[in-house]
Parts: sequence; C-alpha cells; structure tokens
Amino acid sequence: DQNQQDAEKLLAAKEAIKFVKDGDVVGLGTGTTTTFAIKELGKKVAAGLKITAASSSVRSEELAKSLGIQILDLGTLSSIDISIDGADEFTDTLNLIKGGGGALFREKIIASLSKNSIIITDASKQVEKLGAFTVPVEVFPLALRYVADQLIKLGGKGILRKKEGEVLITDNGNYIIDADFGLIDDPEKLATDLNQITGLLAHGLFIGLTSKVIMAKGSEIVSFDK
Ligand code: A5P
Repeated sequence: DQNQQDAEKLLAAKEAIKFVKDGDVVGLGTGTTTTFAIKELGKKVAAGLKITAASSSVRSEELAKSLGIQILDLGTLSSIDISIDGADEFTDTLNLIKGGGGALFREKIIASLSKNSIIITDASKQVEKLGAFTVPVEVFPLALRYVADQLIKLGGKGILRKKEGEVLITDNGNYIIDADFGLIDDPEKLATDLNQITGLLAHGLFIGLTSKVIMAKGSEIVSFDK
C-alpha cells in the first residue's frame, strides 16, 4: 500500500544520501521518491554538509532552494559528482524507463554528466523486461505529428500526455508522448532507433547511464551495481 511504498522510498533515499560527500556537485532528479532524497539532503545541509546541486525540474529546484541547497545552472556543468533520481521501471541490468514525472530530458542530461548515477526505488519498480510502463518521449511541438508517425513505424502507439484536461507542457516548453511498445525485447536497439528521430528531444529509455540502483523492499535495502 501507499504507506509501505512511501516507507520504502524514504529508506532508499536515506541510503543514497550516504554516498554524498562534502564538496560534491549533486544532480537532483524529479518525482515522489527523489523528493524524499532532496528533503534528507536538506537536513544534511542544515547540519553542515557543503554541496551544490543541479536540478532536473523546476519543482525539484524550488524544493531544494527552500531547504537551503545552492542550485547551479545545469547548462554550465561539464560533470556532476553524484546524482540521485527515481525510475518508473528498472531491470537488474540497470536499464530504466524514466519520465513518468515528465522531467526525462533534464534527467537524462544529469545522468549523462554524472560520475555516479544512483537510482532509488521502492520494490514495485523492478521488472524482468521493460515496457509495461509506457516510454515517455519529449517532443518539440512543431514535430508532434512527425514524431508520432515515426513512433508508429517503430511499433509504438503514442498518446499525447495531458494534465487536468490540458496538454502537458514540459519545463522546456515541449510535449510528452507516452509510447506503448509492449514489453521491449531489445531496449538498446529501440533507444538507438528513437535517437534517430528529428524533433524527439529525449526518450525515457535510460540505457547504460546508471551506476547503481538502490531498491528498498520492506525494511531491506537491495542494491544492483554495474
Ligand atoms: C520523472 O520524470 C521520472 O523519471 C521519475 O524519476 C519517475 O517517474 C519516478 O517517479 P516516482 O519517484 O514518483 O515514482
């Protein structure tokens, strides 16, 4: 249930925070799990931990700032020491689907810049094969029809994401299509194919970008390493 899941998210978040050291540039993800981590990090900062951070979304940035965490401009960074983010699905090969919260584009920039990219999850996120959760893709508005057609050619049925009845606009001013490919046999191949589509700015398949997944299951921590 919800309480159990929140307890797991908090436990995984606390475990991940242990890897953050004085002087680190920390990448902050987005979502309910990451929110726990940002709050824990805020407590550490209040207690004297010296870090700076880059954020994957406006809402994570606002939370971090309210807790006294100094935010750097992501666009100026050439590396991030450690990042902490959630995932919608992961496999034990450390491939992920992300973007349920719509922040995948910046999350992928952060993951790509990170020397140590840590994913934290509750026990519900582990899967044998990716794809039960649809693959979010961020689309430049003028390319909407084109991208949707290309997704269909790749076997993905897309739905334009809405929020409260309105088309969702990302922090970057774009749309999200949630594409259903069914269970994905070859996520590497699909990721490569998606990367070729003009106007598709980023997709939620995170392949080879993760250093470690910390999953909480009940009161236990289960770690998956590269
Ligand atoms: C945000 O865009 C996502 O990638 C999140 O990291 C993912 O959706 C997990 O979110 P929760 O922690 O809320 O489950």
